[in-house]
Amino acid sequence: MKRAKVTVVGGGFVGSTAAHWIASKELADVCLIDLNGEMAQGKALDLAQSGPVEGFDAQLTGGSNYEASAGSDVVIITAGLPRKPGMSRDDLLITNSKIVRECASNVAKHSPNAVLIIVSNPLDAMCHVALEASGFPKNRVIGMAGVLDGARFRTFIAEALQVSVEDVQAFVFGGHGDTMVPMPRYVTVGGVPLPQLLPKEKIDALVKRTASGGAEIVGLLKTGSAYYAPSASAVQMAEAIIKDKKRVLPCACFLDGEFGVKGLFVGVLAKLGSKGIEQIMPLELNADEQAAFKKSASAVQELVDVLNKNK
Ligand code: LAC
Repeated sequence: MKRAKVTVVGGGFVGSTAAHWIASKELADVCLIDLNGEMAQGKALDLAQSGPVEGFDAQLTGGSNYEASAGSDVVIITAGLPRKPGMSRDDLLITNSKIVRECASNVAKHSPNAVLIIVSNPLDAMCHVALEASGFPKNRVIGMAGVLDGARFRTFIAEALQVSVEDVQAFVFGGHGDTMVPMPRYVTVGGVPLPQLLPKEKIDALVKRTASGGAEIVGLLKTGSAYYAPSASAVQMAEAIIKDKKRVLPCACFLDGEFGVKGLFVGVLAKLGSKGIEQIMPLELNADEQAAFKKSASAVQELVDVLNKNK
């Protein structure tokens, strides 16, 4: 069987850690692209040399020239500045939009059939930039946020209940920002709905911690933002696409009327397979959830409006 090929754009912490997960899981050959081509080349070479020790086979290449990325099945775009303490993801809007535009258009030239997974922030707005710059159909541009936010929620719930993280199912709706919408009503622990296991005040505290989960880590790291969980989340999405697994994962998708939102990337549950987003999963929202989702979508719309004005 021919091995899949994944290009990771951006050789910083998120990008290089994504390359690490992909290679160590033997999911694909990896091409790491960065403006600093020698750094990308060096990281790829170093990672390749861990193969004999860890026991994986994957071709690893790195550089600044997108020609090396040609024919990728999946491209993960992580390029852009991370936030520093005190910054919101939205503060990165204009700077990162220029970077993501350039990356997405280069990627599209060399891998016209790839599925793009966007990780750069502010996430939902950067998906718009990538959709436009690549010219790809909406099913092939997907934002990584819900898996990460859901993973944070799952971690906190598992810790509170002292159960395995594997037995906690949870997802987060809405934009990847302060208005994100964790969905406790749909959380299950070994199949048991969370509201049967924890009192409302405790659940509310976990929801709050989830929504500011990225900032909590930025505050601790001081020099940048999280990278282990963000890269693992992007790689889980890439795996679903490469293996055509039809996984149901929360992702930023371009909505066309679903949940009352049209023409905007917002986080919802999607079925991921070889075609990218293969279905937006239906879900019943109660009045509070619908209102919170609408508010979160409006926050994304505001950023997209700023981008449109600055074109
Ligand atoms: C976070 C960044 C990656 O949530 O958005 O950690």
